[in-house]
Amino acid sequence: MLHRQDDQLTRHTAQALMAVLERYDLDRDAAGLRAGLLRATERLRAAPDLYQLGVKREGNHINNSKYLYYDGQLQITLDELPHGMKIPAHDHGIWEALILCSGRVTHTVYERADDGNTDGYADLRIIEDRICSPGDIAMVVPPADIHAFTALPGDRTFAMTIIGGKYADTRRYYSVESKSYVVRTPKALRESGALETSA
Ligand SMILES: [Fe+2]
Repeated sequence: MLHRQDDQLTRHTAQALMAVLERYDLDRDAAGLRAGLLRATERLRAAPDLYQLGVKREGNHINNSKYLYYDGQLQITLDELPHGMKIPAHDHGIWEALILCSGRVTHTVYERADDGNTDGYADLRIIEDRICSPGDIAMVVPPADIHAFTALPGDRTFAMTIIGGKYADTRRYYSVESKSYVVRTPKALRESGALETSA
């Protein structure tokens, strides 16, 4: 019985998210989108067995990632962000919303300040830099679909991530200081050992 209720909650969340996204397609109201994503996921984020839901997914940068919902156009995942692991600035080719469920995360959003015409060169400008706590939402939306984040010590850190489609197969990974980028698959980056952790 409990299982059936949980299935319905996930489905109802996905349906509510679809309505939010359809509205955003029409009005392009970014503030409305943020509020709608929070509202649509509120009950699921508060579910007592949230961390038992979902099926294992091969995470892009992390090991503990689960699909809560996926239909090729909408994806909801639950991701544990290891403390101290610096996820370097990267893009997605698509918008992404990250809603913190537990723990704390430093989260920085960038946009390109250069014209994008020189291969390997990128001048990034910070447009948002903050510490997210449970219930906070961080969004990366093209052309500002570049972000970097690090989970802070304390409680285990879980984020619900929502994307409206499919990630690009390859991403740009940026070095902000040297104003450069490389193109990698997330798996290649992870297996290269380039993701630092101080935890
Ligand atoms: Fe990302």
